[in-house]
Amino acid sequence: MYTVNLKQTLIPYGQAVEELKLKFKALRQSFIANEEYSPIEFVTGRVKKVASIIDKAKRKNIPFDKIEELIEDIAGIRIMCQFEEDINTVISLIKQRHKKDLFVIKERDYITNMKPSGYKSYHIIIRYPIQTPQGEKQILAEIQIRTLAMNFWATIEHSLRYKYKQNMPADIQNRLNKAAMAAYKLDEEMAQIREEVLKSQKGFVEEATVIGDIFNNIQNLADKHTAENMNGIYETFWKLWEENDINKLKEFDKNLLHSLSEK
Ligand code: GTP
Ligand code: MG
Repeated sequence: MYTVNLKQTLIPYGQAVEELKLKFKALRQSFIANEEYSPIEFVTGRVKKVASIIDKAKRKNIPFDKIEELIEDIAGIRIMCQFEEDINTVISLIKQRHKKDLFVIKERDYITNMKPSGYKSYHIIIRYPIQTPQGEKQILAEIQIRTLAMNFWATIEHSLRYKYKQNMPADIQNRLNKAAMAAYKLDEEMAQIREEVLKSQKGFVEEATVIGDIFNNIQNLADKHTAENMNGIYETFWKLWEENDINKLKEFDKNLLHSLSEK
């Protein structure tokens, strides 16, 4: 690959980025259409600029004819998640497609192993076949998966790094490290809040089930009792309903079942 051809060489990479963006956005849309929680919040993608490719090739001593083989992030996709645990879901979704529409080549877990800079993300390098007028071409692409907080930090750090190049002042580096810790603390905080929300959702489902049961049992009892006999039961039920105590409701439900089996 010659410098003059670099732009032309990049055409399939642009196509791959568009296809992959579309596929991950479609994944998000399927979750939403099914009224399910989407582990994907949003997706971005880009083709590395010619100047950056040449920079990186120089920096890593990569000869021009090895660029496509050795620079793995010419095509780059970024998937943002609300919660850290969503990242694992997205990783499995990608791995499910291994040998289908893509090939997983390599993984880099900068979440378990945070970079010294403070950078966190999960990287998956894939081989991705695209169809061109000259036939199939397989290219490498890098998928970065991160939370909103990780993305927020990496975006700011990247622009500062770009501004200062190798000469990042120590106090800025220091503050960036602190900002990284604050960002990841936010992820931990959100994970805990999420757990609470899921727990209370579970409680809600449990209560709905007990109340459904109670309605059923009262219906069955009413078939066997006079209206007067039922009044006391209705009153107790309304009282418990208002109290909204799941254990008392369960106890009441048990008593109803017991009365039903007596008759
Ligand atoms: P380069 O960092 O691009 O030279 O690639 P590499 O071959 O060293 O791979 P690595 O996995 O280290 O980085 C790949 C990509 O991850 C980079 O292009 C960035 O998008 C991102 N990245 C890695 N480290 C950092 C970092 O410290 N800060 C930020 N903001 N992004 C990083
Ligand atoms: Mg690097």
